[in-house]
Amino acid sequence: MAGSREQFRSRLGFILAAAGSAVGIGNLVGFPVNAAKNGGAAFLLIYALFVVFLCLPVMMAEMSLGRKTQRNPLGAYKAIGGEDSRWNFGGWLALVTPFMIAVFYQVLTVWLLGYFIGAVSGNLDAMAQPGYFNEFINGNGVFMYLFILTLLIGIILNSGVQNGIERLAKVLMPSLVIMLLALTTFVLTLPNAFLGVEYYLVPDFSKIGPEVVSNALSQAFFSLSLGMGILITYGSYVSHKESISGGAKMVAVVDTSVAFFAGLLILPAIFVFNPLTNPEELSTSSVSLVFTFLPKIFLSMQDTLGYIGANLFASAFFLLVFFAALTSQVSILQVPISAFQDELKYSRKKSVIALGITSLLLVLACTVSFGRIEFFTQFLNYGGADKSFFDLVYDIFYDTILPLNGFIVCLFVAYKWRLSKLDEEMAIGDPKFLGSFTHRYVNFALGTFIPVVLLGVFVNTVCIKFLGFSLIGALG
Ligand code: PHE
Repeated sequence: MAGSREQFRSRLGFILAAAGSAVGIGNLVGFPVNAAKNGGAAFLLIYALFVVFLCLPVMMAEMSLGRKTQRNPLGAYKAIGGEDSRWNFGGWLALVTPFMIAVFYQVLTVWLLGYFIGAVSGNLDAMAQPGYFNEFINGNGVFMYLFILTLLIGIILNSGVQNGIERLAKVLMPSLVIMLLALTTFVLTLPNAFLGVEYYLVPDFSKIGPEVVSNALSQAFFSLSLGMGILITYGSYVSHKESISGGAKMVAVVDTSVAFFAGLLILPAIFVFNPLTNPEELSTSSVSLVFTFLPKIFLSMQDTLGYIGANLFASAFFLLVFFAALTSQVSILQVPISAFQDELKYSRKKSVIALGITSLLLVLACTVSFGRIEFFTQFLNYGGADKSFFDLVYDIFYDTILPLNGFIVCLFVAYKWRLSKLDEEMAIGDPKFLGSFTHRYVNFALGTFIPVVLLGVFVNTVCIKFLGFSLIGALG
């Protein structure tokens, strides 16, 4: 709709909304699994270095692009790309990517809701059985949860940036932090927990090879919601009184701290369950960790907490991850909504309905791709295996494409928009920016080694996922 663009009400609101986007399943589950398998604190260190030196500049570039153009990602690329329509490709990618990530993320969020309700209803013993997950995802309950969740998200998004997204983040983010700290503190009091802490915090650099380094970068990129058009869109709602550099740094600190504490919750919990566990043997998939492994761990807590206590603990954990997923999900869906509003001049309500219907169809295709419908279950064959429709969406949009999008953002900002224009934008609301270390570093890195590294990681991931060999592995 025409009229002035919405804005976040306050600096805190903007930071909480952006942190709400960043903190998600990636931090609470993806990070601990990666750290457990890849040398604990050694992985953490590499991850943190990537966050500071590679991801932060990209985050600032995305936010600045959004604030400068006051548009969704497609509009932003068009506004600055001008006549040169080659850049529209970047804009389309930055629109299709969040839409498709939202599709698989919705599937995971539905499962989290179902597991939360399961634990609240005292079903933990059933949930810890080996066949439960499969039955659950192929049962009819998922359709009900999907319906409830779609409605809930539709209502939030229809309430707008200030009254929907910002208000939600202001309530859920503090609750999430309190729950995370409470659960972590509690786990640390259980027997054998310190074995997990030791495993997590004593670095093992022998695990660090080229593959692990590349994983750490992909993990950091996903976790900070980069390459998804989200921060361009959120940037377009930031007032000119705010410092982009300060906001981006706060978001990175919150996001990395949550990942750190999630490690301090999950690894010790694994050792409480079985002091002889070797976390390296965990599956790499966050999905199998959350939905098949953790319920067993929570059930084992009944020895200390009683059955009801164990169910309560599990409920709190699933609620925590559900909250994190919900704030991420609304952020990513706001990207296509803002595109509908800016490009097609749809009203907010019409945008929400149009998006709700299109994404629901794709989510349903994913939901039936776990065995219910043959066509979607064995959708393609690549990388040496049969893949479902869900696998395809996951492999392309979770694992592969983000570094490519980041690479394009860097080139666009450094060589089309120009770094001097970026500086001008970043200086607005931030009188100390020009001449600061951040300024000089971002200016140097964004047009030089950051895009090179991102392109390298993208090409290597394509080789691994789709062609069955590793470029970096071959070098390493
Ligand atoms: N940063 C989010 C996470 O860690 C990634 C994400 C954002 C996923 C938005 C979906 C939507 O889970």
